[in-house]
Amino acid sequence: MDFSWLEQLIVNKTGDKLNWLQTVILEQVLQGDTYGEISEAYGYTEGHIKDIGSQLWQLLSQVLEQRINKKNCRAILEQYQPSLPQLSAKKIPNFIGREPAMLHLNTLINQGSKVIVIQGEGGLGKTTLAQQYLKTQKFEMVLELLMAKERRYITSAEQVVEEQGKLI
Ligand SMILES: Nc1ncnc2c1ncn2[C@@H]1O[C@H](COP(=O)(O)OP(=O)(O)OP(=O)(O)O)[C@@H](O)[C@H]1O
Ligand SMILES: [Mg+2]
Repeated sequence: MDFSWLEQLIVNKTGDKLNWLQTVILEQVLQGDTYGEISEAYGYTEGHIKDIGSQLWQLLSQVLEQRINKKNCRAILEQYQPSLPQLSAKKIPNFIGREPAMLHLNTLINQGSKVIVIQGEGGLGKTTLAQQYLKTQKFEMVLELLMAKERRYITSAEQVVEEQGKLI
């Protein structure tokens, strides 16, 4: 994407310029990517992408003299650059065919289940189902724990909870 007009404006107003990661975040967010997707694609933690992202929106807000954030940046930048490339087709939500499974999860939760195991062949959509379900629940915080499959690498649950506790 060509942001030379924006880069020029930033240099003129602040004497500073976008760094590489800020440019990456801007381009990816404009294409509809989430911070989680960017962090996975570029090998950073989601927290780091969020931090750099929030600096980016602050800088753009200052330079364009209006409040810019992840949600509205596309609409605002389009006013300056109508030729902004359209969202690619792969960004159309593609979570399909899981209504019965989502309802089932809901039923289990309503019945008071505290632990739910989702079992199925590799690549069937277990992780996606769990993530989508959690998204609909509007939790303030969701902790994702990746557990090793090999016994000798398994971290004790106590240790994991202790680590996460430090983050909270
Ligand atoms: N409901 C769905 N609609 C469309 N695509 C889906 C759906 N669920 C999963 N996918 C896609 O299928 C692929 C595999 O999904 P996912 O990683 O959730 O599977 P998994 O069962 O957790 O796999 P693994 O056993 O390797 O952990 C992903 O590319 C995901 O985007
Ligand atoms: Mg999985």
